[in-house]
Amino acid sequence: MNPPVSPLIAPVIVPADARHIDALMVVMRASFDPAFGEAWSALQLGGTLALDSSFARQALDAAGVAQGFTLSRSAGPEVELLLIAVHPGQRGNGMGRALINTACLDAVRRSASEIFLEVRENNQAALSLYRQAGFLEVGRRPNYYAGVTGARFAALTMRRRLDNFDL
Ligand SMILES: CC(C)(COP(=O)(O)OP(=O)(O)OC[C@H]1O[C@@H](n2cnc3c(N)ncnc32)[C@H](O)[C@@H]1OP(=O)(O)O)[C@@H](O)C(=O)NCCC(=O)NCCS
Repeated sequence: MNPPVSPLIAPVIVPADARHIDALMVVMRASFDPAFGEAWSALQLGGTLALDSSFARQALDAAGVAQGFTLSRSAGPEVELLLIAVHPGQRGNGMGRALINTACLDAVRRSASEIFLEVRENNQAALSLYRQAGFLEVGRRPNYYAGVTGARFAALTMRRRLDNFDL
């Protein structure tokens, strides 16, 4: 059980790296709907964290335990947000918003001019978060995600330009 984060206390967002794989995997396993197989394995996470082009953040609770994270990758003037997750027990308190804003800030610091992501079309919580954070839909890949029931869902590509990001 995770105690709820008080909305009056902003989460502490700090860099994450290969030393934090176990803590991030706890959040990963709890966060993603198994119906869509979107959670990464520890091997996949470690492999990406090992790349010079990747960067990650974790959101810590008052006890210093990771309750959320982002994983991003730079590619020239673009950054791709590969993953964002908040532990179910901590949702709805602004942690996701703080994480995505920090990922955008990190991208600006890497001189990126835009940040992209892909999201399943029926992931309402993530879609709302991204729209609220200024991401706009720029592409659609039909039938990209398959659920365990066989239902298929499009992937929406979303982009946020960073030229007007307020540091
Ligand atoms: C998407 C996710 C990261 C949001 O984290 P969160 O900490 O609950 O988000 P926040 O509390 O910061 O909410 C910010 C905004 O997101 C949207 N949002 C969050 N949860 C929502 C929900 N259940 N339904 C609709 N919109 C929601 C709202 O726009 C909200 O703003 P508001 O509070 O002003 O309404 C979280 O639900 C999650 O980890 N989901 C599973 C993993 C996942 O699907 N990741 C995305 C694909 S990689």
